[in-house]
Amino acid sequence: RERKLELVKKHINSYPDFPKEGILFRDIFSVFNDQTASEVLQELIADHVKSIEKSVDAVIGLESRGFLFGPQIANTLSVPFIPIRKKGKLPGELVRIEYSLEYGKDVIELQKDSLCGKSSVLIVDDLLATGGTMKAACDLIKSCGVDVAECFVIMELSGLGGKSKIPAPFHSLICYD
Ligand code: PRP
Ligand code: HPA
Repeated sequence: RERKLELVKKHINSYPDFPKEGILFRDIFSVFNDQTASEVLQELIADHVKSIEKSVDAVIGLESRGFLFGPQIANTLSVPFIPIRKKGKLPGELVRIEYSLEYGKDVIELQKDSLCGKSSVLIVDDLLATGGTMKAACDLIKSCGVDVAECFVIMELSGLGGKSKIPAPFHSLICYD
């Protein structure tokens, strides 16, 4: 497992000062550019999600890079996939939550009927930075009376302390200090 993680980590490209000065941007797409690294990442993800002990009735992916992993994880667990998107992107009746960004506010939305009959979900995204997005997703799901079995990300930027904000069990594959 450690060797697999090292291989994936080696293929995550880092870009200083993107998209703004002072940010070291970790690019998950560079992993998909290498077929072996991409397959190894899929294996690591499958191994982790199959080891979750709590029951999971659906997988929730966060726009946009949570969509790279959500449907695959849902298939691995044989449960449905449900998207959470930024405002104005999803049709139908919605529930929404506003959350704070570094500057200003944003809104994420979920289709009202999508959680029907679900009691516990797994939320997935590529990366946890400040934790604002993941916390908002947890709060939105909990406000619908559904439990969050786990929040799962590929990469965690631990220096930003985002994990401590998450009101649910949290797991990351790769942690950057
Ligand atoms: C990034 C990342 C997470 C979020 C993490 O998405 O993919 O969703 O930010 O940041 P946080 O922990 O500080 O909330 P981004 O806002 O770049 O949106 P995109 O995936 O739609 O490009
Ligand atoms: N990579 C991808 N998304 C991000 C990052 C990053 O380093 N920081 C905040 N969102």
